[in-house]
Amino acid sequence: MYNLLKGKKGIILGALDSKSIAWKVAERAHEEGAIFVLSNAPVALRLGTITELAEKTGSEIIAADATSIMDLEDLVDGAIKILGGKIDFVLHSIGMSVNVRRGNHYTHQDYNFTKTGFDVSALSFHRLMSVLYQRDAMNEWGSIVALSYMAAQRVFPDYNDMADNKAYLESVARSFGYFFGRDKKVRVNTISQSPTPTTAGSGVKGFDGFIAYAEKMSPLGNATALECADYTISLFSDLTKKVTLQNLFHDGGFSNMGVSTAIMEDFIKHHQPEPEKVSEASKKQDKK
Ligand SMILES: NC(=O)c1ccc[n+]([C@@H]2O[C@H](COP(=O)([O-])OP(=O)(O)OC[C@H]3O[C@@H](n4cnc5c(N)ncnc54)[C@H](O)[C@@H]3O)[C@@H](O)[C@H]2O)c1
Repeated sequence: MYNLLKGKKGIILGALDSKSIAWKVAERAHEEGAIFVLSNAPVALRLGTITELAEKTGSEIIAADATSIMDLEDLVDGAIKILGGKIDFVLHSIGMSVNVRRGNHYTHQDYNFTKTGFDVSALSFHRLMSVLYQRDAMNEWGSIVALSYMAAQRVFPDYNDMADNKAYLESVARSFGYFFGRDKKVRVNTISQSPTPTTAGSGVKGFDGFIAYAEKMSPLGNATALECADYTISLFSDLTKKVTLQNLFHDGGFSNMGVSTAIMEDFIKHHQPEPEKVSEASKKQDKK
């Protein structure tokens, strides 16, 4: 490995199990020489396998519900104490929609669920940065990253209210990133990641079809969780000091595609017009 994070201290929020993107980031950060604190919601600590990751990376775990400002304050204070100084990098890898979980259609949301999902997935990023900013917890040239998805810009019908949460998340990265850059020399970015088979990802309706579609559409294929971790490490490293206020697509090229030959070939194979219909249509064309 490259020792890209040697001597750096971090907080990684959102590792649930070995499929989690945050899990891979923690493993890679450890390999690159960082020390960090792991955090997740108290219920996730009970259901997931984060202690295994903590042992593997020599990290401590601090439980924090990302909807609670007090929990986040305790997390940041605790991390500074455990790590012996201010923080160089923070990963927000948190997302959850109750409407998606309960199968509510986008057009028929339960707005209490919508509020909860927004609180967990989007407002939590503002709240976390607010605690870090007010406590002056970040070292200069530190880096804060949150994970997003392209439904923030384009329509993916089954992504449901998470699309709106991601739009807010990306906006907050820019707005808060301005103050963090100006006042603390800290950068803030979001990574817009390919569909990835994790607990949160697989919960989206039609995920299997969608991940296969994205794979065929992207010239480089879908980016894996490990590849996302590699990209995240580069953003935590000193090699990207002036990258800030960005939403960075990490999707094998998907976001700039219109259509790929693989998708067209599949479409034609399954939607070949019947011969009679073709000849009727061409007759009509001929008459014109
Ligand atoms: N998997 C994908 O296809 C995909 C694609 C693009 C972006 N993302 C984003 O990546 C991030 C990580 O998701 P993942 O795919 O690794 O799935 P994951 O299910 O492993 O991670 C989601 C995490 O959010 C945590 N969380 C939920 N409620 C919380 C709360 N109240 N407080 C603190 N933590 C809470 C969960 O415990 C879990 O660890 C999310 O922001 C997700 O939207 C995922």
